Amino acid sequence: MNIAIFASGNGSNFQAIAGAVKKGKIKAKLALLVCDKPGAHVLKRAKKLKVEAFLIEKKNFQSKEEYEKAIVRKLKEKNIGLIALAGYMKIVGPDILKAYKNKILNIHPALLPSFKGASGIKDALAYGVKVTGPTVHFVDEGMDTGVIIMQSEVSISDKDNEKSLAKKIHRAEHKIYPEVVKLFVEGKLKIKGRKVYVR
Ligand code: GAR
Repeated sequence: MNIAIFASGNGSNFQAIAGAVKKGKIKAKLALLVCDKPGAHVLKRAKKLKVEAFLIEKKNFQSKEEYEKAIVRKLKEKNIGLIALAGYMKIVGPDILKAYKNKILNIHPALLPSFKGASGIKDALAYGVKVTGPTVHFVDEGMDTGVIIMQSEVSISDKDNEKSLAKKIHRAEHKIYPEVVKLFVEGKLKIKGRKVYVR
């Protein structure tokens, strides 16, 4: 199976998945990085790892529909079977969703359905919860609303600030995201209603 990762920023999750592929833990090819931000650090990581990068900016298209159609064309050309969003800071629209139904994963840095949106780490800290952590879920048309596949607990201590908490959450993300990608590639994720079973 060919995998595409969509990322807009640092790319530490891209790196974690690439590492698991390289080690043979995930038996698939990391065939493409889709990136919407020139200058994103993830592009450097892809270059180093010799993963093809497809840099595509929405501002160069008339509409989101045209932008996404161009992405889908590229995904089809590369015979992509799974999309993993890893810090891709855009809502996936209907064109990609339709072409890849139940084949798009996302990682979110909070225990969904709490703290949805773009600042899941900061919001959990500000709210005062004692436990937070990443969630990997399938992507649907909502924002962070798709069925949940795996979560990991991270405790928040009185001493934590945004930086220290982010570090702990990223460490947990780098464990669970490659694990979920592996399960998907092996065909072990079964969706029943709002539940995902590993079979
Ligand atoms: C990750 O913490 C991920 O959970 C978050 O972006 C970060 C990307 O880090 N995603 C979201 O907030 C999506 N709502 P990375 O670029 O180092 O992989």
